[in-house]
Amino acid sequence: MRIRPRRLRRTPALREACAEVRLAPEQLVQPHFVLPGQRTTQPIQAMPGVERQTVDRLVEQVKRDRDLGLTSVLLFGVPDAGKDPRGRSAFEGTPLVAQAVTALREAFGDEVVVMTDVCLCAYTDHGHCGALTPAGEVDNDATLPLLAEMAVAHARAGAHVVAPSDMMDGRVGALRDALDAAGFSGTALLSYAAKFASAYYGPFREAAHSAPGQGDRRGYQADARNARDAVRDALLDEAEGADMLMVKPALAYLDVVAALRRESRLPVACYNVSGEYSMVKAAAAAGLVDEAAIVRENLLAMRRAGADLVITYHGREALQKGWLR
Ligand code: PBG
Ligand code: ZN
Repeated sequence: MRIRPRRLRRTPALREACAEVRLAPEQLVQPHFVLPGQRTTQPIQAMPGVERQTVDRLVEQVKRDRDLGLTSVLLFGVPDAGKDPRGRSAFEGTPLVAQAVTALREAFGDEVVVMTDVCLCAYTDHGHCGALTPAGEVDNDATLPLLAEMAVAHARAGAHVVAPSDMMDGRVGALRDALDAAGFSGTALLSYAAKFASAYYGPFREAAHSAPGQGDRRGYQADARNARDAVRDALLDEAEGADMLMVKPALAYLDVVAALRRESRLPVACYNVSGEYSMVKAAAAAGLVDEAAIVRENLLAMRRAGADLVITYHGREALQKGWLR
């Protein structure tokens, strides 16, 4: 045999030299769940190692993370009261997430990339991602101005990136227009462009208290069977002015990550979601898998599929324990 692929696999140094992808700390995004109030940290049963915390605690946490090289955050608000049919507390006055953005920008300036989730489901009393029609359907066009107000509130507080996760049609264009009109033409849009209706969001809905009271999200999120539809939707977001595209969840949808990497020139992010995280944690706690090796393999697979950025709850622990080296 003249041709032997094994020659390049013989030593650790050779394997390192020939590795097609790596994962740098700067390519990770750490999600955070923000609580109102002060000096409070709450564990999340379904997501061991992940907590909800108030803004003062968040700033301390992000400081420790920054020292590990973890320089991007994605913020979710978890309001304790004041939910209504239109999710007004998401955008009226100075919303909780905007307060967190202000505190992070004061503490870190431009050293940390501050991204915010833009969606109404944690703020509506019915738990859907938008306002409802009298018949109880999610009203696409009535939801757009509410999301736009939310995005502008985050931008005004200093968010570098706003990330709409609602899956309404036309929301990227509506947000871009509203941001530009309000003087925030420099605020970037990361679209949850290919977001699938997924059982992998289960633990998150406990974390953010955002489960729909009735029905599900299949009327707006993409069908798990449809890669073509998801790519079509993502390319519409690009045409409407998205700066980056996201695929979510990650592991069961790496074909979509690869497809978007081919079809678009924008940075592609993938979201290693709550259910993916909790399954690894549960299997590791039961002694069924080697957590370090599994996390490394999963995160590198996302890079191999074509993701530039990986949003993951594993980020901090993976860096602390050197799992990615
Ligand atoms: C809200 C939102 C969800 C997630 C991010 N933003 C949940 C959902 O759509 O039900 C999921 C994140 C995760 O599971 O880690 N629109
Ligand atoms: Zn939502």
